[in-house]
Amino acid sequence: MQLKLKNADVNEVKDELLAIAIAQGDLIPFPELTKGIMKKSFEGKAGQFYITDTQGKAGFRKLLLYGLGEKKDLTLDNLRRFGGAACRAASASRCPSFTISALNECFAPEGAVQAVAEGILLADYKPTKFKTKKDDFFDVPEATIISKLDASDSRVPLGKAIILAGAQNYVRDIDENPANIATPQRLEEEARKLAKSSSLAVTVLGKEELKKLKMNAILAVNQGSALPPVFVMLEHNKGRKDLPFYAVVGKGITFDSGGISLKPSKGMQEMKYDKSGAVCVLGIMKAASEMKLPVRLLGAFAATENLPSGSAQKPGDIITAYSGKTIEILNTDAEGRLILADSLAYISEMKPDAMIDLATLTGAMITCLGHNRIGLFSNDDQLAKTISDSGESVFERVWRFPMDSEYKEMNKGDFADIKNMGSETGEASSITAACFLGEFIGECRWAHLDIAGVDNMTEKHPYLSKGASGIGVRLVVEALSRLAESAERGAVGGKNR
Ligand code: BES
Ligand code: MN
Ligand code: ZN
Repeated sequence: MQLKLKNADVNEVKDELLAIAIAQGDLIPFPELTKGIMKKSFEGKAGQFYITDTQGKAGFRKLLLYGLGEKKDLTLDNLRRFGGAACRAASASRCPSFTISALNECFAPEGAVQAVAEGILLADYKPTKFKTKKDDFFDVPEATIISKLDASDSRVPLGKAIILAGAQNYVRDIDENPANIATPQRLEEEARKLAKSSSLAVTVLGKEELKKLKMNAILAVNQGSALPPVFVMLEHNKGRKDLPFYAVVGKGITFDSGGISLKPSKGMQEMKYDKSGAVCVLGIMKAASEMKLPVRLLGAFAATENLPSGSAQKPGDIITAYSGKTIEILNTDAEGRLILADSLAYISEMKPDAMIDLATLTGAMITCLGHNRIGLFSNDDQLAKTISDSGESVFERVWRFPMDSEYKEMNKGDFADIKNMGSETGEASSITAACFLGEFIGECRWAHLDIAGVDNMTEKHPYLSKGASGIGVRLVVEALSRLAESAERGAVGGKNR
């Protein structure tokens, strides 16, 4: 979709559809067109909408009013949802173009333009790549955002929206590929393609190199798969010792059957999304390079399938991880923490100023937070706060969990240093999983984002369709920008510089 900007008044609009957002208590505009509104009891409640045909009485064929809710509850996400609703309405009415107003005295105009644009672009992406008949999904070719900013002033927020929503949609598009398509090799290919089209440097370690490095936890998970594992690293501003250095690490299980500890078949198809963390890393790197984020950023992930076979790892197996710690495998379905153990240990040796991982790590996350918030675990209060504040601002909200020593104790192994499952009964299993990762991070400031539950949408979301969500990209990019800013101010001294 082509997005345009215009400094105009709603009365001057000539288009197929005009979308206006109304907060509760606001005057309803165009009284002559909105007479029917009383019957529909449109009051501007959050998410309410009213659409009417103007029957030649205005420069636009259809008018959409969208409810923002009460003014005291407004966040920029209301505008993102508004953008989504307008895009969906224009698509349902097969409009070749529409105009949307970002004029709203409750918000700074830059933020409003960015949020509206993000909502439109995110709603514009639909997972139709595997449908041969696309007629049901009309793509609106063009939209115009009006605001009181001049086109040149609004280019920055629009540019940000295009990069961020673009990166999120890029993640959704790759993550949507099922396991027969998105193999570890395909993820490697995507990383190489991304590097080629950007300023990112790429390094890939194959199975032989992983063997040489003794990344035995990654290799153990890979044992049951006919496809070799890959370890992919992308770097933005490579070698720039003058910049703060951060790392993002993802879980890339291209299909999680559970392995010998096989999962029940109901819902197993969703385990194609068990690579969401790794794919998010690709999206974060894409956005960081396009935004020219003033940091040195390393993005890394290990990718493999987790399948049962005659060569698969078995419960009871004991392995020596890359860090030298021994791990007793009690459940082959707790594989994410295994590949992350080696990934985090390896990356921590490069001594980033902070390391953030994203992983669909535990089903218990859905029990705790449902599909709304991301679980945050961290060994650093300031880093946790930066991520948490970033989450509120981009509306990819997190909730921090404790990592007390009592939880850490639960991972103590009977026969090895550590076991890959904290308790047989699943007590505090998201926390014990995070504590397990915490054993492999060296001296790093670290945060773990458990994105199980938010990485794919089951219900209809105001601007994300059912399927891969790409959630995590905007959160981490925002957090990295904030970290960069505070490093600039000297608030967080990069200990390596
Ligand atoms: N990939 C799953 C976690 C998951 C489950 C993500 C459901 C999204 C939806 C992970 O590898 C897993 O299987 N975790 C187990 C760990 C357990 C065996 C200790 C879990 O959470 O049940
Ligand atoms: Mn699993
Ligand atoms: Zn998994």
